[in-house]
Amino acid sequence: MLRLTAKHLIWLKILFHLIGLVPLLLLVWSVQTGRAGGDPVQYIIHFTGMGALNALVATLLVSPIAKALKWGVLLQTRRLVGLYVFAYASLHIAAFLSLDLLFAWELFFSEVVKRPYIVLGAMAYLIISALAITSFKALMRKLGRRWQTLHSGIYLVGLLAPIHFYWSVKSEVIEPTLYLVGLILLLLWRLPRRKKTTLVGQ
Ligand code: HEM
Repeated sequence: MLRLTAKHLIWLKILFHLIGLVPLLLLVWSVQTGRAGGDPVQYIIHFTGMGALNALVATLLVSPIAKALKWGVLLQTRRLVGLYVFAYASLHIAAFLSLDLLFAWELFFSEVVKRPYIVLGAMAYLIISALAITSFKALMRKLGRRWQTLHSGIYLVGLLAPIHFYWSVKSEVIEPTLYLVGLILLLLWRLPRRKKTTLVGQ
């Protein structure tokens, strides 16, 4: 079986950066060359929203994969992958506010009334932002145990984001259902492990 060690870390990071950045270059290219369909704004919102959701799934997959394949080094890429959730979600929201609402803030509130799922997206984004800001080593040390508690917020994001997706789609339900079920399974995988850690910690 393939063995990953600390010396592979740099290549893993390069690979994950490519996986995060190449789709964004493709998005710019599609929009500029008219390949983004009849409604490019919708295309960008969809693309970046799915990017954020896929990055979230990837972030939550790191630990189970690292454990199953005994690739401990993979755990050191969690922050990098997690920051792509923040980057894609920020672009998703920026696209919505700038290209869809044209920065008409008064429209934002009528949109929230029309599309209440936006509130769930906004809650998820607030948590994601807090996690991104506190993901730096210095803050991690400063916050101590509170850092762990704050970062448990990822569980809530793992529920809010797929529900936001599920609620936003008009007809197709298979894909959002798969994301919701998949993310719930990834969160459930963590439950017994957390309990064990707490007991050990006691
Ligand atoms: C303030 C925060 C957010 C706002 C205002 C927002 C807004 C929107 C809007 C307007 C749509 C388009 C629905 C449509 O008309 O088809 C959408 C869809 C979506 N959003 Fe968000 N969102 C937010 C946060 C998030 C976050 C944090 C994630 C993921 C981590 C996310 C993932 C998605 C996905 C996957 C879709 C479905 C894309 C599609 O099928 O078109 N959103 N969101």
